[in-house]
Amino acid sequence: MARYLVTGCAGFIGSHLTEKLVETFAPNGDVIRGLDNFETGKRENLTNVLDRIEFRECDLRDDAAVADACRGVDYIFHVAALPSVPRSVKDPRTSHTANVDGTFNLLEGARAAGVRRIVYSASSSAYGNQPGFPRVETMVPMPIAPYPVQKLAGEFYMKSYWQIYGIETACLRYFNIFGPRQVPDSPYSGVMAKFTLMMMRGERPTIFGDGEQGRDFTYIDNAVSANILAMTVPAEKIAGRVFNVACGERHSINKTFRILAELLDFKEQPIYGPPRTGDIRDSLADISAARDAFGYSVAVSFEEGLRRTVEWYKQQYAEVAAG
Ligand SMILES: NC(=O)c1ccc[n+]([C@@H]2O[C@H](COP(=O)([O-])OP(=O)(O)OC[C@H]3O[C@@H](n4cnc5c(N)ncnc54)[C@H](O)[C@@H]3O)[C@@H](O)[C@H]2O)c1
Repeated sequence: MARYLVTGCAGFIGSHLTEKLVETFAPNGDVIRGLDNFETGKRENLTNVLDRIEFRECDLRDDAAVADACRGVDYIFHVAALPSVPRSVKDPRTSHTANVDGTFNLLEGARAAGVRRIVYSASSSAYGNQPGFPRVETMVPMPIAPYPVQKLAGEFYMKSYWQIYGIETACLRYFNIFGPRQVPDSPYSGVMAKFTLMMMRGERPTIFGDGEQGRDFTYIDNAVSANILAMTVPAEKIAGRVFNVACGERHSINKTFRILAELLDFKEQPIYGPPRTGDIRDSLADISAARDAFGYSVAVSFEEGLRRTVEWYKQQYAEVAAG
């Protein structure tokens, strides 16, 4: 029997991952533990699994509680973070304590508990605005805003704990993950979720900049499968390494707006505003390292992902869709 811990299990990515782990590993007798402080996550995201996991309401900044949550655990998916660039610009200390101190507490808890492997949710924002596409893991990181600096610090800590303490750590740099359950109505919401809800309400979304900035938008199921694959291959394939997790395609914000508008039958034009501080101009990943190391492939395309996402928001926000 193995025990898995998912930090940030009530969030967007963490809740999908937790569901998949319950579906895949719980039938073998494995135990799934989750922790979250609900700072951005929601209890409703755990509705399907709450009675089948060991859930702990716990803040990563609480080192004793984190150490306790690590006890008896073999494998950790470290997904929890305050994941917003604008939020980190406005209030760097709060996101620093969650993202850097929290990650350090988790590593210390894992070390004390003899945890075998940690797969860490890293961010493509670590590449910054340097020239050169697609992004390859061998590029020197050039983070700009506090959030990518914090996420990158986590990567270096992961590598250190592999080299010094032998915990098998792997870092997955996600490129704009999207899908059901992304919070659409917070000031820090991602573009896809925010635009979808606004268009359902008949409101014109604001595009920051000219809209030609591109993103390697990646449907949630791809990120979940990358996590599970990275957790299951032999250590020599992944330990101490960083991997891009993306689709390997670039889609502009203007194009994304047009597809969403068609799916939602939205006839208005977007509003264009000034570019946002700390935002990167473009993102496009080389995904060959993840493919070669642990057999990662894109299971759900951008267009199919958009269709599934819009369907979910239509069901979830039916009263909005009905007008
Ligand atoms: N969504 C993306 O496109 C994307 C891209 C790059 C990296 N990431 C990374 O993926 C991870 C998950 O992101 P997400 O989009 O699911 O965000 P999310 O906000 O939905 O999930 C984060 C979860 O962590 C929890 N959390 C935050 N601070 C905590 C703390 N101090 N203690 C305990 N729990 C805490 C939140 O309550 C939430 O449930 C993050 O590490 C983020 O940096 C996400």
